[in-house]
Amino acid sequence: MKALILVGGFGTRLRPLTLSVPKPLVDFANKPMILHQIEALKAIGVNEVVLAINYQPEVMLNFLKEFEAKLGIKITCSQETEPLGTAGPLALARDKLIDDSGEPFFVLNSDVISEYPLKEMIEFHKAHGGEASIMVTKVDEPSKYGVVVMEETTGQVEKFVEKPKLFVGNKINAGIYLLNPSVLDQIELRPTSIEKEVFPNIAAEKKLYAMVLPGFWMDIGQPRDYISGLRLYLDSLRKRDSSKLVSGPHILGNVIVDETAIIGEGCLIGPDVAIGPGCFVESGVRLSCCTVMRGARIKKHSCISSSIIGWHSTVGKWARVENMTILGEDVHVCDEVYSNGGVVLPHKEIKSSILKPEIVM
Ligand code: GDD
Ligand code: MG
Repeated sequence: MKALILVGGFGTRLRPLTLSVPKPLVDFANKPMILHQIEALKAIGVNEVVLAINYQPEVMLNFLKEFEAKLGIKITCSQETEPLGTAGPLALARDKLIDDSGEPFFVLNSDVISEYPLKEMIEFHKAHGGEASIMVTKVDEPSKYGVVVMEETTGQVEKFVEKPKLFVGNKINAGIYLLNPSVLDQIELRPTSIEKEVFPNIAAEKKLYAMVLPGFWMDIGQPRDYISGLRLYLDSLRKRDSSKLVSGPHILGNVIVDETAIIGEGCLIGPDVAIGPGCFVESGVRLSCCTVMRGARIKKHSCISSSIIGWHSTVGKWARVENMTILGEDVHVCDEVYSNGGVVLPHKEIKSSILKPEIVM
């Protein structure tokens, strides 16, 4: 079985992290986002993943080569010379997606995180006999997503409206699709949107079906959602495989710490924290609702909450970092500095406090 992951887009909403790597390679829960998806696809028997790329393909492919062998899955690239949107890339990769088997294939947005109930989706798809299946989930703020109106018992989609201005419903497109090869006959090779130009047509033909996604879901393409997504992910990890979480007197709630990270004496860590490989958290540090990425150093008695600390950054002694502060790669926050929502570009040194949310270039 095959799958295509949409990995284009510039990831502007996740800057400054996406100034260092393409969005799918930004770490989430100590692992690049896209690896969560590739592992889930592999687990249900997908043997080839096509990455639909329009931006920095070398970086992605070099990185993923290592995992091709490790995971035993073929990873190929379909490269656009201009951004083709969310449907055009399917037309471009047509020959890679279709084979003699006539099997349906998966399509995934690269920035969504869930328990990936893909097996259940295959069963759902077989049972309804339509042309396409999409996963949907309920959210409080549907206007920033694709909204789906469906017939509750069968799942048949009546209407698909991308980013509606007026309220249509609260079930939204979760960015996980299973499509019959025949769907490709409806997509032209040009910049085009699956949400605006393809799904509404298939829905009108009554061949689009939606399955309500069991478990948690989050689009982690924006800092606030990334941080909430980590909380949901760790909650679900506690239920599925709690041995991956750390415990002890200095840990509160759900926390993951890479085995190569070092944690000093007298820290208090959690809830909802991920500490990546090679990090050094010195003594007396307080961390909550935050991600500390590979190689970062958090110095003595600093306090970090609701923030993301990018790769190889340093937070100084007694510093206080909070309220959606996002440090890009290799940022240095000096001792005793306060950051209230600072968004700091890579390789910067922060010598004075950031008192209100702002971008530091
Ligand atoms: N190859 C390629 N080329 N990929 C692209 C392009 C492109 O030109 N443009 C966007 N993508 C990829 C993005 O990298 C992402 O994985 C996916 O397509 C969706 O794009 P986003 O920019 O993240 O869209 P969104 O979050 O505003 O909305 C989409 O996701 C929501 C769920 O998270 C839509 O599919 C909504 O309907 C959906 O609800
Ligand atoms: Mg998105």
